[in-house]
Amino acid sequence: MIKDTSESGKGKQQLLIKDIPEVQENSFLIRNTPVMQEHIQRKGRNNTLENQTAGTERNLTWHEMDITRAYREEQMGQKAAVIWFTGLSGSGKSTLANAFEQYLAAKGKHTMLLDGDNVRLGLNRDLGFSEKDRIENIRRIAETAKLMNDAGLIVLTSFISPFLRDRQTARQIIGDCFMEVYVSTPLEECERRDVKGLYQAARKGEIAEFTGITSAYEAPLQPQAVIDTSSRSIEACVAQLAAALGY
Ligand code: ADX
Repeated sequence: MIKDTSESGKGKQQLLIKDIPEVQENSFLIRNTPVMQEHIQRKGRNNTLENQTAGTERNLTWHEMDITRAYREEQMGQKAAVIWFTGLSGSGKSTLANAFEQYLAAKGKHTMLLDGDNVRLGLNRDLGFSEKDRIENIRRIAETAKLMNDAGLIVLTSFISPFLRDRQTARQIIGDCFMEVYVSTPLEECERRDVKGLYQAARKGEIAEFTGITSAYEAPLQPQAVIDTSSRSIEACVAQLAAALGY
């Protein structure tokens, strides 16, 4: 149905999508799944008082979508989650995250991997390694991971994310589905590996604020899993992680 929305009744016409028969039919099906019914009951996940206030100040209003995270999760047959790998440069975060993503994919899971160097070459290319920039790096990654969660995905993130406070912020942005994995490979082993030659450069003073050398790394206090990649094969690490996270 085309609805006339002008004051005079003769102006612009607007197509109302909910009036299209196919959409009506599908909306009916979507809305009647138990998961959607439950979701409709408690709509407004992002419409918190804090968001309302921030939005009002800037003339922004959260728009609720009918195709929700819950719907997409049901469609994909999985729960969205973020598996947040943290640890020193060279600790094996990216290798482990990559191997664990393969394990999940082989189990039919829908995943996405966000990796430090890759994200810093694109989305976060304007950010350096000062404390301020690292905070912004982690905030953007957390918001991106959350959007991917809304698409129903299990997101793996591989960033040094050295500061407790920033990982706490990430947890707040992402919510209950945030799982922290501490890749605890000791500094001596990371430095011995020195895959990118960065530790050597940092020791010579050629790189400022290098994590573990001239910038702090704050280990997680209560991670869901602690994995030291120095003493075991990658397969053994994947198995340990799968057991710890229940995949
Ligand atoms: S984070 O601290 O902001 O979380 P992120 O994981 O995105 O760091 O990026 C870390 C990668 O950037 C390292 O693996 C390394 O290749 C590179 N790098 C360049 N300069 C630094 C630095 N000063 N400290 C740490 N990593 C650096």
